Amino acid sequence: MDKKTFYITTPIYYPSDKLHIGHTYSTVAADAIARYKRFQGFDTFFLTGTDEHGQKIEDKAKEAGVTPKEYVDKIVAGIKDLWKLMNISNDKFIRTTDDYHEKAVQKIFTKMYEKGDIYKGYYEGLYCKPCESFWTETQAVDGKCPDCGRPVTNEREEAYFFKLSAYGDKLLKYYEDHPGFIEPVSRQNEMVNNFIKPGLQDLCVSRSSFKWGIPVPVNEDHVIYVWLDALTNYVTALGFGSEDDTMYKKFWPADVHLIGKDIIRFHTIYWPAFLMSLDEPLPEKVYGHGWVLLEGGKMSKSKGNVVDPVILAERYGVDALRYYLLREIAFGSDGVFSNENLINRINSDLANDLGNLVSRTVAMVEKYFGGTIPAERETGEFDAELKALAAQTKTDAEADLDKLNFSVALTNIWKFVSRTNKYIDETAPWTLAKDESKKARLAEVMYNLCESIRIISVLIAPFMPATAAEIRNQLGIKADFEWEECGIFGKEETYTVHKGGIIFPRIDLEKELAELEAAQAAANPVNPLKEEIQGVAKIGIDDFAKVDLRVAKIVECEPVKKAKKLLKLTLDDGTGDPRTVASGIAKWYKPEDLIGKSVILVSNLKPAVLCGVESCGMIIAADAGEDDVKVIFVDGVPAGSKVR
Ligand code: MSP
Repeated sequence: MDKKTFYITTPIYYPSDKLHIGHTYSTVAADAIARYKRFQGFDTFFLTGTDEHGQKIEDKAKEAGVTPKEYVDKIVAGIKDLWKLMNISNDKFIRTTDDYHEKAVQKIFTKMYEKGDIYKGYYEGLYCKPCESFWTETQAVDGKCPDCGRPVTNEREEAYFFKLSAYGDKLLKYYEDHPGFIEPVSRQNEMVNNFIKPGLQDLCVSRSSFKWGIPVPVNEDHVIYVWLDALTNYVTALGFGSEDDTMYKKFWPADVHLIGKDIIRFHTIYWPAFLMSLDEPLPEKVYGHGWVLLEGGKMSKSKGNVVDPVILAERYGVDALRYYLLREIAFGSDGVFSNENLINRINSDLANDLGNLVSRTVAMVEKYFGGTIPAERETGEFDAELKALAAQTKTDAEADLDKLNFSVALTNIWKFVSRTNKYIDETAPWTLAKDESKKARLAEVMYNLCESIRIISVLIAPFMPATAAEIRNQLGIKADFEWEECGIFGKEETYTVHKGGIIFPRIDLEKELAELEAAQAAANPVNPLKEEIQGVAKIGIDDFAKVDLRVAKIVECEPVKKAKKLLKLTLDDGTGDPRTVASGIAKWYKPEDLIGKSVILVSNLKPAVLCGVESCGMIIAADAGEDDVKVIFVDGVPAGSKVR
């Protein structure tokens, strides 16, 4: 019989900024499952990659003064390095700029077009540029994108549409017939109630306002909508739409698309509808995991709090970080990352529980038996309980991993680690060692400890591959194994151990926190000005045109008796009639500094009475520092000139 196959994917990442700990989370989770399935003997295919087209990339490349391809090439190289560092075992890395992908996407588009599922029309609606998503009036929240909260803009242009509206009922039926297609189930309810039941609208699948995309085969003035381009990566990576689709036939449908909850709509509505249109089978499961948040909320580049996985992996090791991410956060829910939690977990779970177990055991085998456990052994109290828990842990870990409950799986595995540590205290080898007649019992205790640790090495291998290998090295057993070997005692005849270094050194929390925070701050320079400017609501040119700015000459100026801060200015605004303006600049300017100067006037500001002076307009000045204001002078420009 053919080996059973397993196909798992991560999202393909935007190469727009450096990837952070949240992206690493998706990929590490997928890697753990891929490794687990390989250990179980599945012929496994694990795909990741990059989603490289779209206006955002085109804009960024322009800003950087390079071509979009040059721009993405550099970032993609960094992403590949990150996955190498994180020990990600992907079988393929797809780039949506790969030639075979582009050709296959065009074929897919043509097939849908010829079938009548894609047609030409006009798009008029709300578009969120950063998310590259269209929204209807009802979906947008107060004129803002419901995903990212940024303002959406009105667009109208000729475009191609996918008949998504024809697939609502089919999708509902599919969900009903395939429980477990969308997980966690709450995410399915959200899709049904918020999107499908209110009625799906046809989806605009082309753009003509920018060039950086795959050309629409029937009209090269348009490029294919990035999500149609991106989602199809899951099949084009296997050769779908190419001359050789052997891999597609072997691995499709995917067993699981692992994604973050923010992109669930694309994967559970658009993607299945595209596949239905192509008459291809749908993936078995789409799992939308939660977000890695910080104590103050989301990570953001402008807040300078983006957590860089490279800094953490370099300081504590890749496996510690992989362990922490999958242990700390319940997979379907959001979870909070904190440096302190990370260090505490490393100290308690890894250095104390696991690290100590290995180093104590290896040291005792060396001390009591010169490194090799003798063949003459005698079972005794506590052995059966330890063995029973090993078997139970295997069963539990399988059930947990099959449900992608990583944190529960690790909690159960650690119960077995603790049980093994307790076995040392219960059997007290140091007492047995004092009595020559207990030598066989001591040998059995050491053997059971080594067997437990061997089992642990298998159980943790999907999460911490390098640690599993190091433990096996210290136990003196071969590096490779099959999943079935965990849970059962008696696999090895004996052990000849090799003392190695400390697997997880203890970390001094206080000292390390300060150093880590300094390293993170140095890597994340905050730019508050950028944050402030980005945070200001955007206005249209029509809004700006409402402000009438004119050059005016100051002809008279005097202090206002009742208000120390104010100066009363008399201006020549070019009309021939004097205009009075009160301005709060007395702290920085004396009347004689201003008389004869030309300034910029907001001429259509509604008049207001300030400390008894009727002010008809406002002059423009800049906040030039903590407590400094500078009036903008435009000497030499005739009074009345329009400023725009
Ligand atoms: N390019 C699209 C995916 C196309 S898949 C056909 C995309 N890319 S992304 O780079 O913005 O995000 C990739 C993944 O990272 C998404 O699953 C997203 O949910 C995940 N994460 C980004 N930030 C995250 C956290 N802070 N926490 C957990 N995952 C988050 O979307």
